[in-house]
Amino acid sequence: MTSTLQELTPYTGIEPDAAWAEEVRELARQRDAVLLAHNYQSPAIQDIADHTGDSLALSRIAAASDASTIVFCGVHFMAETAKILAPEKTVLIPDARAGCSLADSITGAQLRAWKAEHPGAVVVSYVNTTAEVKAETDICCTSSNAVDVVASIPEDREVLFCPDQFLGAHVKRETGRDNIHVWAGECHVHAGINGPELAERAAANPDADLFIHPECGCATSALYLAGEGTVPREKVKILSTGDMVHAARDTKAKTVLVATEIGMLHQLRKAAPEIDFRAVNERASCRYMKMITPAALLRSLREGVDEVHVDLETAARARASVQRMIEIGQPGGGE
Ligand code: 13P
Ligand code: SF4
Repeated sequence: MTSTLQELTPYTGIEPDAAWAEEVRELARQRDAVLLAHNYQSPAIQDIADHTGDSLALSRIAAASDASTIVFCGVHFMAETAKILAPEKTVLIPDARAGCSLADSITGAQLRAWKAEHPGAVVVSYVNTTAEVKAETDICCTSSNAVDVVASIPEDREVLFCPDQFLGAHVKRETGRDNIHVWAGECHVHAGINGPELAERAAANPDADLFIHPECGCATSALYLAGEGTVPREKVKILSTGDMVHAARDTKAKTVLVATEIGMLHQLRKAAPEIDFRAVNERASCRYMKMITPAALLRSLREGVDEVHVDLETAARARASVQRMIEIGQPGGGE
């Protein structure tokens, strides 16, 4: 796996036409494979998948599936999580170079050193982490259950929250706890969706709802804007990608400003075609998610690659923290 911000050349040369779709479906049938796609995948990949959803929903589906093979159209840590939960299954990712800058923000060694500075603290790690970090973790969380996970920890226990500083700030605010230490990691895509940009868009669209992923640099600004009355509080919704789809079905707004990776717009437009969904930052595209091209998916199914492996001891330690995550919080947003 490679996940530094270097130039990566995706597999190309295949159009996602009807012949492609037919071959993908037939090969998936022959391999007894279930196709899972994250909400940030390109529209063709989302549409061919058996299930599209957020990371929590897809973890749950991977764990419960009867299929012997899981083809995970997402980034490497997501496929690794599926393997941790279902070690007996073959887990394929169409391009193992699809990493994650957030997962790269903390290593197992860094987490061990941090724990040594805070003996007795409970470690909560966002699911965007490597298997090695999960193995050092007490409870994993995703954006849809991070607040519930931290709320489940006794008030007097210190909490180490990693690796995302914006999600950590959101959890700290929502739980009102001051004994949470937050690691200073970030996702380069979400950190690039900033407060001034959001304020400008909100001012130009005063009736719009704001759907904001808690990893965004603008999440704090959105609450600040609400606090000072620039945007009505009820219009600011801090949501996981799956919860955005539910909120799209429920809102009365005609326009929604969406602060997350732009692949999200596809599911939102499918869920509520009558609403005008606009990206707060149209350049917020995750190059790792977009490594999963139609050509990469076909290669994966034809050749049975790239297979994801997690060593058994790490997987066993990581599984306990992931299972706690799956047990806590709302059912995730998957279709
Ligand atoms: P969700 O947990 O909301 O699906 O987000 C995953 C992710 O990678 C965000 O960038
Ligand atoms: Fe990782 Fe950010 Fe891409 Fe999500 S959008 S997979 S956090 S790099």
